[in-house]
Amino acid sequence: MSNEPNLHGKVAVVTGGGSGIGRATALLLAHHGAKVHVADLRADTAEEVVRAIEAAGGSAVAHALDVSDPDAVEALAGSVFAEEGHVDILHNNAGIGHGGNIEATTFEDWQRVIGVNLLGVAYGVQAFIPRMLKQGRPASVVNTASMAGLVPTAKMAPYCASKFGVVGLSESLNAELSKRGIHVSAICPGIIDTPIVSTGIVRGDIADIQGRASSYYAKHGASPDEVAQAILATIARPRLVVPVPRRHVTVPYLLHRISPRLVQPLARSFERIVTRG
Ligand SMILES: NC(=O)c1ccc[n+]([C@@H]2O[C@H](COP(=O)([O-])OP(=O)(O)OC[C@H]3O[C@@H](n4cnc5c(N)ncnc54)[C@H](O)[C@@H]3O)[C@@H](O)[C@H]2O)c1
Repeated sequence: MSNEPNLHGKVAVVTGGGSGIGRATALLLAHHGAKVHVADLRADTAEEVVRAIEAAGGSAVAHALDVSDPDAVEALAGSVFAEEGHVDILHNNAGIGHGGNIEATTFEDWQRVIGVNLLGVAYGVQAFIPRMLKQGRPASVVNTASMAGLVPTAKMAPYCASKFGVVGLSESLNAELSKRGIHVSAICPGIIDTPIVSTGIVRGDIADIQGRASSYYAKHGASPDEVAQAILATIARPRLVVPVPRRHVTVPYLLHRISPRLVQPLARSFERIVTRG
């Protein structure tokens, strides 16, 4: 089977579609013929992506959406289904970064990170999947987790909790739904060159290194286009957990599967790695 599906006639919804991985995925899905609903907290960036898709001859609609608001996610699902009658690809991707030593982290940080990164995915699942089950055609749900959903990172406990949660809910849902025609994948990107570090919540020690970490992501991060290609591939041939790029994720992931203790030194060294320039 081709890794480059023909998506003409398909409808996709991409949350966090205004930037980075979501933007790259929206553009790629549209390039392959899908009509893409681009949803983002920032209406301006969602609209910019729609204009880019239309300029390339594709079809897209922009939506302002806060994924941490269940009523808003439910309203989006209602309006997309009213307009299209079906959704073939749901990419629950919106997320925020967070880094900080635990004594500098706040209760509000936990609520925000879990609210966007984990509950945002859960609300997407809850609003769209019951409708997708009724539409009578197969579909793909792709949830953006992270390498930090497979292995721990020091000073990123809220973020890791949210992303381990996304991996867990994706595996659970796939077990429930794959025999009913809906495949669920957890995409686990490593270090990707997007604004996530510069726009994320940073506290304490990590606030001091934000600039250097951001430069590291820009210099050494993989392209979001590489992640979008992996998403396209898993839509064509479903995979449950998708590390991307493999050169970042596979070794720590395998070590963690052998013994969680083995990756503790690596979890502690992440801060040093991303500040070495
Ligand atoms: N960049 C990386 O290295 C990396 C690695 C692993 C996982 N991820 C994950 O990839 C996903 C996309 O991140 P990115 O790197 O492309 O970052 P990004 O900042 O470029 O894109 C995130 C997008 O999500 C939107 N967003 C944030 N909060 C939102 C909300 N409440 N509702 C709707 N939209 C919201 C932002 O406006 C932005 O457009 C996130 O879930 C992130 O955790 C990123």
